[in-house]
Amino acid sequence: MKTSFIELVKSRRSVRRFQEKPVERELLRQCIEAARFAPSASHVQPWRFLIVDDPDLKKVLTQKAFSGIFSATRWAAKAPILVVILAELDMITNRIGRQFTGLHYYLIDIGIAGEHFVLQARELGLGTCWIGWFSERGVRKALDIPRKYRPASMLAVGYPDVEHFSDKSRHPLEKICWFNKVR
Ligand SMILES: Cc1cc2nc3c(=O)[nH]c(=O)nc-3n(C[C@H](O)[C@H](O)[C@H](O)COP(=O)(O)O)c2cc1C
Repeated sequence: MKTSFIELVKSRRSVRRFQEKPVERELLRQCIEAARFAPSASHVQPWRFLIVDDPDLKKVLTQKAFSGIFSATRWAAKAPILVVILAELDMITNRIGRQFTGLHYYLIDIGIAGEHFVLQARELGLGTCWIGWFSERGVRKALDIPRKYRPASMLAVGYPDVEHFSDKSRHPLEKICWFNKVR
């Protein structure tokens, strides 16, 4: 029976332990395909997905990205795939838009696209974890990223080690949703 959208969303949890089994590139492409259809401010589509599946390169990346204060993210070295979500910044919307509103639209866009990826991955039986705790400089160096791209986030991807279901509670609906007036 097909999983409903709400079931898919509710069953997703961050996965930090993976099987060694490699992940088929075709599945990753399907995740990117889902991300590709995300909405974005002024339709600028600022996201770029740099998928690292070469073990040697991944080693260099994890050494540089997760050292010093970022070593708490060392667990991600064992993920078969690391995805670096890059933002292309030389776009009018992000420059001018921010001057007027103070909002970093590209971060919103990347969050939406990245979560499309994550949910598609979940449907395909892959586990993921967002990674925000990394050295941007280290990522730049390891992957030789041109200046016009900013590593905005990362995702660890792989087949989950055990299908664990951490019961992380969520704020109740009444706490996060108001109609007409903030209470
Ligand atoms: C933008 C963002 C950055 C995150 N960065 C990290 C991280 O650096 N390391 C980590 O272990 N988890 C990270 N997470 C995962 C969160 O800790 C996790 O989503 C949260 O605790 C809720 O748990 P769940 O995803 O299992 O529902 C990040 C999540 C998001 C959305």
